[in-house]
Amino acid sequence: MQLLCPVSWPDYQLVDCGNGEKLERFGPYFVIRPEPKALWASSVPNRQWIDRAHVHFIQGTGFGRAGKEDSGTWEKLKKMPDHWVIQYKKLFRLRLSLTSFKHVGVFPEQAPNWDFVYHGVQKIRGREPQFVPRVLNLFAYTGAASLAARAAGAEVVHLDAVRQVISWSRENMELSGMSGIRWILEDAFKFVKREVRRGNTYQGLILDPPAYGHGPEGERWKLDDSLYTLLRECSHILAKENAFMVLNLYSNGYSALLADSLAKECFPGNGNYTFGELYLKDDKGKKLPLSVFSRLEL
Ligand SMILES: C[S@@+](CC[C@H](N)C(=O)[O-])C[C@H]1O[C@@H](n2cnc3c(N)ncnc32)[C@H](O)[C@@H]1O
Repeated sequence: MQLLCPVSWPDYQLVDCGNGEKLERFGPYFVIRPEPKALWASSVPNRQWIDRAHVHFIQGTGFGRAGKEDSGTWEKLKKMPDHWVIQYKKLFRLRLSLTSFKHVGVFPEQAPNWDFVYHGVQKIRGREPQFVPRVLNLFAYTGAASLAARAAGAEVVHLDAVRQVISWSRENMELSGMSGIRWILEDAFKFVKREVRRGNTYQGLILDPPAYGHGPEGERWKLDDSLYTLLRECSHILAKENAFMVLNLYSNGYSALLADSLAKECFPGNGNYTFGELYLKDDKGKKLPLSVFSRLEL
């Protein structure tokens, strides 16, 4: 089991976490947001974070669905823009924004998965220099993993069910000086089933499904009910060699071992299976676990 956190990322820092919140730095701006997994006390009392922070997400107020854990409002404590840009290594740039549900447009703990995707594509290209690997990113959100694949030279298909996040991803691509990503606004399951019927295959598959979601036409996604079947369908579109898959799970308390068993069950064969947890480390070395993953390399 691997325990992985972002390394060498000057534009991101988890400063402190505790009492149900975290203090993070994205580029030059310090942000306080709710963090249900920060069960312990913070190293510095949360009220002292306010001196450093530019903005604080206050839970349960203002817009957003009343009663939902993620709803609330951003209270600016110092001057800062509504949108700003951060860099990830020499690979890509992301526009960040204070969204209505405590998110800023990036899940920083995912950085080790972006590195895996980048190196996965590079490995394939190293073995077959003339060949352009195809990568499908499902539930792709603002597109960091798509950009990692594109930066490594893959042909990328980026799919999400929400038009606004697809536009956001396109902006991230342009900010990163890239082009040529294919954007799909569709239900993940529907698209994968169609790709199976068409006989299309990919050298890279990336999946980061939420607990609940909806396709653009109201198609219902429920992780507990849909994940196994989706992965089985995905096994038909993953190339049999020179290929990789990464599954990330951040909800329902799913364990890394569960992710590994799912991968082995749904993508059987002699590949190299690995699994683990992704976490962020704060300035005092405290580890905040945020998701689990399983990976397959063929
Ligand atoms: C938490 S995000 C994934 C984070 C992303 N992989 C990253 O690290 O940047 C989950 C995404 O799944 C999308 N989604 C939800 N239901 C969907 C469905 N049925 N089909 C396709 N995408 C869906 C949401 O719009 C959201 O962008």
